Amino acid sequence: MTTAAPFPLIRLKSYERARDAWPLDPAIIHLNHGSFGAVPTAVVEHQNALRHQADLTPVGWFPRIAEQVREAIEQTAPFVGARADDSAFVPNASAAATVVYNSLRLGAGDEILVTDHGYGAVTMGAQRLARRFGAAVRVVELPLLASDDEVVRRFSDAMTAHTRLIVIDQITSPTARMLPTRRIADIAAERGVRTLVDGAHAPGLIASAAEQAGGDWWFGNMHKWPCAPRGSALLVTTAADRQELWPLIDSWGAPEPYPHRFDTQGTIDATTYIATPAAIDFVESEFGWDAARDALSALADAGAEMIAEALRPFSTHEPLTPLPSPVPSMRLVRLPDGLGASREEADALRMDLFDEEGVETAFTSFRGIGYFRLSAHLYTEASDFEAFVERCVPQILRRAGIRVPLTTTIA
Ligand SMILES: Cc1ncc(COP(=O)(O)O)c(C=O)c1O
Repeated sequence: MTTAAPFPLIRLKSYERARDAWPLDPAIIHLNHGSFGAVPTAVVEHQNALRHQADLTPVGWFPRIAEQVREAIEQTAPFVGARADDSAFVPNASAAATVVYNSLRLGAGDEILVTDHGYGAVTMGAQRLARRFGAAVRVVELPLLASDDEVVRRFSDAMTAHTRLIVIDQITSPTARMLPTRRIADIAAERGVRTLVDGAHAPGLIASAAEQAGGDWWFGNMHKWPCAPRGSALLVTTAADRQELWPLIDSWGAPEPYPHRFDTQGTIDATTYIATPAAIDFVESEFGWDAARDALSALADAGAEMIAEALRPFSTHEPLTPLPSPVPSMRLVRLPDGLGASREEADALRMDLFDEEGVETAFTSFRGIGYFRLSAHLYTEASDFEAFVERCVPQILRRAGIRVPLTTTIA
């Protein structure tokens, strides 16, 4: 097998394989960090120890949760370039979007702009918000390969006197590209339009992601690229009306101002929040975040090339899909025609390949074209991509109705 780009070999400070620091099942190939993250063993153990403390002495633990959560925010907010006083923990990106939508009042005839790269659940929330007030959602179409300038121009042209809100991704989910959210939000602000930046994928991949994003509200998942325990996301805002933001669980924090009212959420397992700084520190101390981002780019490039090389002889289109604003850790490889043409088909392919081949993948669909959205994290190795080529490429070709001559080796 030949590969054009070299794979970096990533090791811990102890020189052990980075892979050994994650409890991932070695019988499974893991190429989809982007959807649900992966928590290093050290962080799992830290969270387990916190849970154990709660079990040992509930009265010693639960009444002091708010203080511990605030302390965790003080350590986490600088990682995304935010002030702790502007930041609240929420369970996930979806919750953050819901909190912001719940705070808004629109008028009949008002308009929300979203993009055709938006995350389905967040876009559906915008549609429900619009329905409540007789407002409308309009989709700004962004070609996959649009330059940042073109993206900004399309938004600028799309805003009308009725536009009240823009919902835009800092890193898109189906297409794994960055969008120039700050430039768009600045133009929007000049026209009295507010911007909600969905940075679900941004923490860890973009240094100081919240600061870079611009806009009125930003949220990002800590349980994706920073590898925090699942159920940890940050909502950040300096908006003048932020006292309209309420946690989804109305609890004893209610008399407190934003963001402190989010620190008390009844009897919940707040260890996901409290253990978040341990995940950030783990990557920083073992690899350094800047070096990690460089390594993820190199891994993702090399993996995408290897898979594209295997598909190329059987494809009518070039499988490698370089994007104008790529992220460090994810790449798109175009599937053969007809495969993954809808989100449902792409999701079904993901589960089939997991069940039949033991490979964790993400397939996405954009404008009727299916893509393998590959993820690389520090635990990813060349052998993972080789396994994808050996196990998944034949399945993909078979499902696309492509007959592979018996003499051909898929390389
Ligand atoms: C862009 C984007 N927004 C929101 C979400 C929702 O994240 P969560 O499931 O953690 O709420 C995701 C999840 O992948 C996403 O990619």
